[in-house]
Amino acid sequence: MAVGGFWLAMLVGSVGFVLNHFLPLFLKLGLVPKGSFGWPLLGETLAFLKPHPSNSVGNFLQDHCSRYGKVFKSHLFFSPTVVSCDQELNYFILQNEDKLFQCSYPKPIHGILGDISMLVAVGDIHKRLRNVALSLVTTMKSKPEFLKDIERTTIQILDSWKDRQQVIFCDEARKFTFNVIVKQVLGLTSDEPETTKILEDFRTFMKGLISLPLNIPGTAYARAVKARRRISSTIKAIIEERRKNAGKSNNRSDFLETLLCVDSLSEDEKVSFVLDSLLGGYETTSVLMALVVHFLGQSPIAFEQLKVEHQNIRSSKKEDEFLNWEDYRKMDFTQNVISETLRYGNVVKFVHRKALKDVKFKDYIIPCGWKVLPVLSAVHLDPSLHADALQFHPWRWESEDQSCKKFIAYGGGSRCCPGSELAKVEVAFFLHHLVQKFRWKTEDGDRPLAYPYVEFERGLVLNVEHCSNI
Ligand code: HEM
Repeated sequence: MAVGGFWLAMLVGSVGFVLNHFLPLFLKLGLVPKGSFGWPLLGETLAFLKPHPSNSVGNFLQDHCSRYGKVFKSHLFFSPTVVSCDQELNYFILQNEDKLFQCSYPKPIHGILGDISMLVAVGDIHKRLRNVALSLVTTMKSKPEFLKDIERTTIQILDSWKDRQQVIFCDEARKFTFNVIVKQVLGLTSDEPETTKILEDFRTFMKGLISLPLNIPGTAYARAVKARRRISSTIKAIIEERRKNAGKSNNRSDFLETLLCVDSLSEDEKVSFVLDSLLGGYETTSVLMALVVHFLGQSPIAFEQLKVEHQNIRSSKKEDEFLNWEDYRKMDFTQNVISETLRYGNVVKFVHRKALKDVKFKDYIIPCGWKVLPVLSAVHLDPSLHADALQFHPWRWESEDQSCKKFIAYGGGSRCCPGSELAKVEVAFFLHHLVQKFRWKTEDGDRPLAYPYVEFERGLVLNVEHCSNI
């Protein structure tokens, strides 16, 4: 009986596989983009995920685009997929969220993040969570402590470098972004025991997110699922403590204080929301910082220009005076360096979507139910869109609009990153102190690789020289 059940399941599975893959090909003769499905089940996933320098599109995309064009079909993450390296199609996909396409991350990601995470939620739940996120970001930015906390954390990290000749920059950047986000969201400083506890669990959680999704005791994935539960209980305990102390004057100005007053979210949604903010704000921003430092290390002219910009801002201020929004708005070249780093370094290579119906775009059809992967890095490195696309050239942004369709580092449409401004302020303030206090040299061979998440081969080793106490 059990054996019969197995074969029946296989038969149903095979019929499903054939219907999903080949029926659209027969019915929409020749209209589905060209390409190859590769091996059964895995398809071309391994070749697609093969690491390559993050400032290149990698052999897989290069080879497929030259063979089939910028839009091609494949079989990735166990689904028939349309991969798009085309600027117009990517823009169209991102602008049509919930109408023609929908965010669709692989199941194991849901297993770790939970279904009410804003990063994976769709439809009305997503809209509700996103509205809260946007209003929280606006409230946070208006609090006077917001900028000061970022600057205090910068100074604390850079003070710890004074007697060192070498630092592993990726570790330092993660320490910085974690301390900033934990302070902004939960009001915790780096020396509080809860911070250390959350950081430890968070590292386990991040490792699981990028591991083989096997929920068997002992695997990185299973440890991550458990770590998520522990972080949730730590956050719940912090929330309960806050509620107990409600009314006592504590002058708290963090995310959580505002979040607790929001009526439109359940308790679990609030916890998940805090987790999303920590997750969204930690890895991406630290990778961006590492990429900026790496590219500046190879571009002495850009480094000097950046230093002059920050020296000018500093010279207009009293000793030890904190930076404010007005200073931030003067950091024009810094913004250009950040945008160019996002374009050239590609913190997020692609995002996951699925087609909600048959979608006709130009000459081809994307079949309903197929996965769609808009590749953001392919647009950034496309030589027909960016002159000298394979060069780090921050000056290009003096004449280019950073909100143009060919710059999509933060995604687009109704899922566009709500934390982009926070990330930029963090990087700009960190650079303000870094370029004035230190010079650095990177080591050969320590390149940023896209796994597709970006990692430096050796953690970005910096040989640093302390040159000023400003
Ligand atoms: C260099 C920094 C960052 C980059 C490159 C980046 C990139 C992105 C991208 C490409 C998306 C769209 C994902 C999709 O369409 O599926 C996104 C969404 C998101 N980001 Fe960021 N991000 C950064 C920093 C941050 C920060 C600092 C936070 C929070 C404090 C954050 C929180 C989020 C959240 C919650 C979403 C989901 C939005 C939604 O689905 O509506 N990000 N980010």
